[in-house]
Amino acid sequence: MHGFYRIAVLPGDGIGPEVTSEAVKVLKAAEEVLGPTFRFQTGLIGGCALDATAVPLPPETISICNQAHAVLLGAVGGPQWDSKRPELRPEQGLLQIRQRLGLYVNLRPAKVMETLVSLSALKPDRVRGTNLMIVRELTGGIYFGNPRGIFSKDGERYGVNTEIYREHEIERVAHRAFQLAQARRRKVTSVDKANVLETSRLWREVVTRVSRSYPHIELDHLYVDNCAMQLIDRPTSFDVVLTSNMFGDILSDEAAMLTGSIGLLPSASLGEHSALYEPVHGSAPDIAGRKRANPLAAIASAALMLRFSFRMERVALAVETAIEKVLKRGVRTPDLPGRSRPVTTSRMGDLVAAETVKLLKSPKFRPP
Ligand code: NAD
Ligand code: IPM
Ligand code: MN
Repeated sequence: MHGFYRIAVLPGDGIGPEVTSEAVKVLKAAEEVLGPTFRFQTGLIGGCALDATAVPLPPETISICNQAHAVLLGAVGGPQWDSKRPELRPEQGLLQIRQRLGLYVNLRPAKVMETLVSLSALKPDRVRGTNLMIVRELTGGIYFGNPRGIFSKDGERYGVNTEIYREHEIERVAHRAFQLAQARRRKVTSVDKANVLETSRLWREVVTRVSRSYPHIELDHLYVDNCAMQLIDRPTSFDVVLTSNMFGDILSDEAAMLTGSIGLLPSASLGEHSALYEPVHGSAPDIAGRKRANPLAAIASAALMLRFSFRMERVALAVETAIEKVLKRGVRTPDLPGRSRPVTTSRMGDLVAAETVKLLKSPKFRPP
């Protein structure tokens, strides 16, 4: 290997630092077998950055990210910053870094593990075998459109947000979805609200056009309200779910409940030149600082980093297999009720790290 992989670590707020350090722990454990491979550099983002520098995304953090091969992020936000002006909220730090790095596609896999089938919010027979991938557009739509703001007119205030999608924004994320589907079960479900919104009508038209370059992939379209229902009714029938920024945000939290806990869901945000990996969940202020956070979403996000950014498939698979093995032994954080006493965040990290090392040392462990 040439040199080191530089990883920018942005722990953020709430449970962000607690879960991120477990992900770093697992990567460092892998180095016991791989030899020195990663260089970590930490930066501030979100509420902690606001407290230290008065902005949610300091220039220093941007430059750390620009110099890194990949970014590992925890979570941002918390009630102590909720009264801030909109441009000074922690969440702005996250939205800005996604935009600054051009991370237009967000992959959010949701796979139901057989060991956890009974923890799903759904009946086991309905949810067993679910394995879907939400492909969420991440740098456009109503999150970023102008005009936006709270204004006054005729003695009353009104709030405005604007959803805008340009053709090229839809096109590039659609290509990513079809390419992913090619290596999966060859099915794309595009989700929109084309019965009401113009942005969605354009979305549907462009996705249909892009699909002609992928004749072997089945495409269907669902309205988002129906999709929210079908995800509960027939979750196993979904493969790749392609959707806009806001619909993807909402549907991915829904998908978390199929798997058992939002503490399990990782994500990868990709652009042409950069990549950022973070759990789907937030900073969980209700459990922060209590050693109760599930670090598996953060650890699985690091596995996605190994796969997508570093092309280290065997190591990625070792981390994912380690997570499954540890869960199979009945090890649980408090968000995953089980028979035995729950373990702490760092104990879960220790066990996954040890199992990862064991797998990497085994010559028999090979990707399929
Ligand atoms: P949340 O995801 O932080 O928490 C929702 C619920 O899930 C809470 O009960 C929490 O305890 C639980 N939970 C979340 N992650 C968990 C984990 N790893 N282990 C165990 N339980 C977990 O969502 P919220 O409460 O709506 O938002 C809290 C703050 O986080 C807000 O400021 C919000 O803006 C922010 N947020 C940030 C991100 C991000 O940084 N990517 C994502 C979502 C929300
Ligand atoms: C997520 C979060 C963010 C989003 C917030 C914190 C800006 O909910 O990553 O899912 O809405 O994208
Ligand atoms: Mn969200």
